Amino acid sequence: MALPAAAPEPAAEPVVAPGLRLALSLLEEGVLTSRANRSCGSYVARAVPSAGAVYPYEFAVLVLEDGVPTAFRIDTDRRTCARLAVGARVTTALDASLLAVPENGGALVVTLTRPWLSMRKYGDRGYLYTQLDAGHAAGNLLLAAAGRGATGALRLRFPRESLSELLEAGENCREIHSATLVPAGPAGEAWTRWTVHDQTDRELRGATWRSWLETTCWDSVAAWPEHSGSPSLHSVPAPLTRIRTDRQPSDGQHGLGDPSGWPELIATRSSSKAFTGEPVAADAVWQAVSALSTPLATDLPEVSPLSATLVLRSTTDPERDAVYRLRTGERRPERLPSTDEVARACMQQRALAGASAVLLLHVPRTSLAGADSAAGAENLRELGFRCGALGQLLYLGANGAKLGVTAIGGFDTPLWRTLAGLPEDDEILYALLLGCPDDSGIKFDRLAMAHAQNER
Ligand SMILES: Cc1cc2nc3c(=O)[nH]c(=O)nc-3n(C[C@H](O)[C@H](O)[C@H](O)COP(=O)(O)O)c2cc1C
Repeated sequence: MALPAAAPEPAAEPVVAPGLRLALSLLEEGVLTSRANRSCGSYVARAVPSAGAVYPYEFAVLVLEDGVPTAFRIDTDRRTCARLAVGARVTTALDASLLAVPENGGALVVTLTRPWLSMRKYGDRGYLYTQLDAGHAAGNLLLAAAGRGATGALRLRFPRESLSELLEAGENCREIHSATLVPAGPAGEAWTRWTVHDQTDRELRGATWRSWLETTCWDSVAAWPEHSGSPSLHSVPAPLTRIRTDRQPSDGQHGLGDPSGWPELIATRSSSKAFTGEPVAADAVWQAVSALSTPLATDLPEVSPLSATLVLRSTTDPERDAVYRLRTGERRPERLPSTDEVARACMQQRALAGASAVLLLHVPRTSLAGADSAAGAENLRELGFRCGALGQLLYLGANGAKLGVTAIGGFDTPLWRTLAGLPEDDEILYALLLGCPDDSGIKFDRLAMAHAQNER
């Protein structure tokens, strides 16, 4: 039960790396900070949501420091960077991963997931939340870059082993999630809060903190087979799922509007704690939903097995209330769910049952890469990225349309499948609720107890 001594953190100033400044300021804007008005005590609001507010991921930044390729590990809570490796080791690892550090002050931001942080609260389901949470963060980095007028590109399909070794990821129970290429641009002042340490000498660092609990959790994850698509070198801007947009109001605002307005949408988004049950305008819901077709530059195929279904259940235009398959635009004949049914389908999260609309993201089970998977199947990381980034777009779209929104991971798949008339073999990966917000109470999802997963 005794603690080992703290490792030394020798300072590493001065650092001549414009790419690092750029990456830190983008992380501040795209992931770490928020200006939303929150009455949440000690809780530090961020630019992205996370199941249970645990944020089970971290980052590494690879840049040219004084012309030399250098890898930094980022501690986002303490706002510190540790220089981990320099020179040929970095170049070799990047070459083997089919990645490169951009020249002239750009950066490669690597997102690493730490599944334990979510799994210690949510068990195996925490692994799905880890992927969704990382999808929100990585997707939002692209949106934050776009808001600055820069086109970032996200890579998910590359060999991970050598990069994982360089960043000491696997040995510390982290997985390499993705790599975001950020072209050079102004960094602002946000990076001045950060300090940099040198940790290139492993001997000096001392032992890394490790718990047998995390190791056991990691071993359970490592036992799951990983299926990857073949590496792809090209990132192409495309929507992450197909959405027919003809239901959207012709006179209303489409999508997220001009990218110069995105930083404001990002900085002020938040998750609703409850919904009042008052109906909202159908046009506002369609405006929020239209954000889903925003193209993002990734190396994933343009065609995905992921579909979105919208259950529009209580709007001020009742004749438009219905279940819509967004891939085809089809309006389905299903009866709309009552408030009681929504509560039950959201694991008795009663405060949220007054939602006016529910967005379900789902795939045929055979579209999850594995032994008998269908053509075009994607692994859980890729599907989780699509869902998380689409979730982020919906948050921003809802913010723009002045609607309340919250993601929910606690939902009853068979019940939603029935309520929304989804195919029998479809798996729902993610659900998000929209409605008239009531932010007077507490966010149950942030409590230590996993209420939304039936922990009692
Ligand atoms: C994958 C995921 C699952 C979530 N599940 C729930 C949920 O079941 N119930 C809920 O009230 N909030 C849920 N949330 C919202 C989080 O509680 C919320 O993001 C977190 O408390 C931080 O608050 P903020 O988003 O307002 O910054 C979820 C968020 C994500 C990203």
